[in-house]
This record gives sequence, C-alpha cells and structure tokens, in this order.
Amino acid sequence: MKTIPFSLPSISESDVRMVTDVLKSGWITTGPKTKEFEERFAQYIGCKHSIAVNSCTAALHLALEAIGIREGDEIIIPTMTFASTGEVVTYFRAKPVLADCEEDTLLMDVSQIEEKINEKTKAIIPVHYGGQPCDMDEILRIAQRHNLKVIEDAAHSLPTKYKGKMIGTIGDITCFSFYAIKTITTGEGGMACCENDEFAERMKIMSLHGISKDAWKRYTSEGSWYYEVIDAGFKYNMTDIAAALGVSQLEKSDEFLQKREEIANKYRQAFEDVPEIKSPVIRDYGTHAWHLYVIQLDLEMLKINRTQFIENMKENGIGCSVHFIPLHLHPFYREIFRYRPEDLPTATKVYNRIISLPIYAKMSYDDVDYVIKNVIKIIKENKR
Ligand SMILES: Cc1ncc(COP(=O)(O)O)c(C=O)c1O
Repeated sequence: MKTIPFSLPSISESDVRMVTDVLKSGWITTGPKTKEFEERFAQYIGCKHSIAVNSCTAALHLALEAIGIREGDEIIIPTMTFASTGEVVTYFRAKPVLADCEEDTLLMDVSQIEEKINEKTKAIIPVHYGGQPCDMDEILRIAQRHNLKVIEDAAHSLPTKYKGKMIGTIGDITCFSFYAIKTITTGEGGMACCENDEFAERMKIMSLHGISKDAWKRYTSEGSWYYEVIDAGFKYNMTDIAAALGVSQLEKSDEFLQKREEIANKYRQAFEDVPEIKSPVIRDYGTHAWHLYVIQLDLEMLKINRTQFIENMKENGIGCSVHFIPLHLHPFYREIFRYRPEDLPTATKVYNRIISLPIYAKMSYDDVDYVIKNVIKIIKENKR
C-alpha cells in the first residue's frame, strides 16, 4: 500500500545549499538575507513594501496594529477560515464579526458584509480561501463607502491574480504565509505587503520590539549600539536562515504552481462523472493558487459521512484534511461571542461535506492517480 501524506514541503538540494550557506556565514538571524527576500518578494508581487516576519499570524497582527485597531472596534472576517484570522482581532480586544460563506466557492459571502457594518466597524479581512481570490472590487467598493480598511489574508494565495492584478497589490495590507505546508515555505514565516509608507514603517518597527529602524544592524560594523524604543512592539522578525529558504523557494513558486494546476485539472477531470463529488467552483475573474483542493460530498447520495470518508482514505494510506472547522463552531467563539451554528447556516452545512485532498508540487502523477482511484472506490462502495 502507498502512503501519501496530506502535504509535504518541496525541498531541493538548492534550498539546502542556500540555508547551509547562511548557517556558515556567521549571521543567522534577521540580516542581509531577510532584506534580499523582502526585495525579491516585493518584485515578484509588484508591491512597494514587503516586511518579512515569522508567521502570517504575526503579519496580520502587525497589519491591524498599523491601521490603528483599538479595543471595542469590530472587524468583519469570514467564519470559514483558520484560527489566526480571528485571534489577531481579539489581541486588541476588538470583535471579530463573522460572515458566512458562499455554498459553492466557500469564499466569504460578500453580499452579507454590508449588513454587518456599524459605527464600530473598522476593517474587513477577506480570506482568499484555498488560493482563490475573493471578489475584491466588490469588497473595496464597500470599504470605500464605509471608510474601512481592507487587510487581505493571503495565507493560501501565493501566487494568485484578481482581474489581472497580483494578490498583494490590492488591499491596504496583504499578509502571506510560508508555513511548512504552504505554497512556498520557510518552515515558519510570513510577509506583509503594502503600498503605504507609514504602514510599512510602523509594521517594520513593531515587528522588532518597537525599536528604531534597522535595529538589527546594531551588531554590524555599519550599525550603532544606540537605539530608541518608540512603542511596546513584538518579536516577530524573520531569521536569515528562514529567509534563505524563502529566497530559494520563491524562485520555484511558478513551477510549483504549474504542478498544482496539473493536479487540480486531473482531479477535476476524474470526478466530472462522479455525481457524489462536487469539485471546487472557480470564478472567472481570477486565477487560483491551488493551495487546497476542497471537494464537497453529496451526503444524501452516500451511506457514509465525511469523517468516515476520511477514515477510509486513511486506511488506504492517504492523508486528507478539513479546511476549516468554521470559527463559529469552536468553543471560543460560541462562549465568548455567543455564536450559534444557525447564525452562519451555510458554513455550518458545508462543514460536514468538505474534504481537502492532497495537492502539492512534490506529489507524483502516480500518487495523484492513486488518490483518484481510492476516492472513486470509496464512493462506489458507499453509494446509497
Ligand atoms: C487562512 C489562514 N490565515 C492565516 C494562517 C496563519 O498562517 P501562519 O501559520 O503563517 O501564521 C493560516 C495558516 O494555516 C491560514 O490558513
């Protein structure tokens, strides 16, 4: 029996070389490699500023700090997302106001945003779920009308285009993730991209203890021992070890995407004639990063539920996952913000049907065929 993990990073000899070069260089924390990674990333995205940090969660936190979120503010976020999108809002004692998802794309239902806006609302955090962009024109129109900031959670969407524009060049600040299983990885890492000089400066300073610019240079010959703390910042800086991996991975970003696109196409074709499976619905306004390939089971046509389906896949050596358990179904959101399953009915419903299949550059075509064969076998054996 084959073993196919849900995800694996694609690390090559060139990645290893880049990292070991840094390890041998004598400078392993934030320094020249981090700067190089930031510059190359900004060039790749086509944005003015890129600030490298140690996670996308950190980038989101810094972004909200830079736009001036305060206690009591409200921020609209989708319920169909990872913990990070919501937790950063609560760091400020602000309130995450959850929006439901569309049943087909699983993206935040933009038509529900406006009814959630009141005088406390300060920002919207759209999540480009799975790697597909949200309808940014519509979101920006709402944001402009109500004077809100737009912080994009682009943890899944490197690289993605919306109407020809790269994600990372549209909202006020865009946050990317380089977590181990993301489309490119630095082990742990993130990047905040923006055009606004003040936001960039503030995020840079707050990412390293709130101390003055280029503080990392204080141990170099160009640097000075003198620094000033201007605010209570955080320890969110990226190391040069991680940045070296980032530089090397970024070079392969397009090649990785091409492989994920091929896998997505294979899955789509294979499941076209399987009515029990709905493949991801894609809008024609953009491209897809294919970080996730999320199918929906038609449970009325099957004798097993989603959890049993995943168990069956596991028995055949295939790792699957669920993205996501919607935020409103977690104890924290139920108990602190009093959300009930029926408040966000679409996410509650689709949660029981969604399965993320393996999709990553390192997968062989044999692996993809093996996944397809087993999905179809499990469906056949469990038709109602
Ligand atoms: C939608 C979303 N936002 C944010 C994050 C946080 O990324 P990181 O692990 O880099 O903090 C994740 C991570 O899985 C995510 O899925």
